Amino acid sequence: MENLYNKVMETIKYINSRTTRCPQIGIILGSGLGDIVKNMTNKEIIDYKDIPNFPKSTVEGHQGCLVIGKLHGVEVLAMKGRFHYFEGYSMKEVTYPVFVMKQLGIDTLIITNACGGINTSFEPGNLMIINDFINLMPGNPLIGLNDERFGPRFPDMTEPFKLQLIEKAKVVADKLHVPYKEGVYAGFMGPYYETAAEIRMIGKFGADAVGMSTVPETIVANYLEMNVLGISCITNMATGIQKVKHSHERVVETANRASQLFCIWLEGIIKEL
Ligand code: HPA
Repeated sequence: MENLYNKVMETIKYINSRTTRCPQIGIILGSGLGDIVKNMTNKEIIDYKDIPNFPKSTVEGHQGCLVIGKLHGVEVLAMKGRFHYFEGYSMKEVTYPVFVMKQLGIDTLIITNACGGINTSFEPGNLMIINDFINLMPGNPLIGLNDERFGPRFPDMTEPFKLQLIEKAKVVADKLHVPYKEGVYAGFMGPYYETAAEIRMIGKFGADAVGMSTVPETIVANYLEMNVLGISCITNMATGIQKVKHSHERVVETANRASQLFCIWLEGIIKEL
């Protein structure tokens, strides 16, 4: 994707022609976790297919649109449907919406996903605060010439998930009696669910959960100096830990079941931001 800056500006121009809203918080919604948009008021919806330079979503369970609206009086922009590397998009395409969000004025990004649990104290349906990531994908979105207008050549990754946001999420969870786990998320390329041997390796590397998203977006958001909060829904135990075979339908079904608690928690956090 050449001239990324110009492309992002073109996208911004279009979005600004469609809405006068100025969302402060961005949310990337994972598989089966889209219910929060139902609770948003004063909604404005922009389909990805209408947005210049936006990739189009192909995964079942994902719909492609930006939803701008209010949650507890806070203006948010939710991405219903994200782009995955395994769909064939480049890493720059996968993270394109994050570049757009930053240029729209969004400084806080909440990234959510459905993932497999590696930590054996986890159970399907658990919600997990992501406190760090391991990039096991074959690349990252910052490869190539750097445009200093976006961020530095060598961005810091000391706090990929902002400690202050993690603390806030914990306080809100305790207040609302939302049980949660905490752990490291490993981003695997996909689209196949990992082998049992890969899971044993990833577990030894220090990962508590594994999924096929989130890491590229988190890298770019940090590069752009956005504050990131990551929340995973453990939809299944990873291969070899879980004895039954994986299915995307079950992943979405479990995420849907956890969705009510997830929404209560997320809305509580947003109210406090
Ligand atoms: N592995 C990778 N991605 C996933 C999983 C998993 O077990 N579950 C949901 N997304």
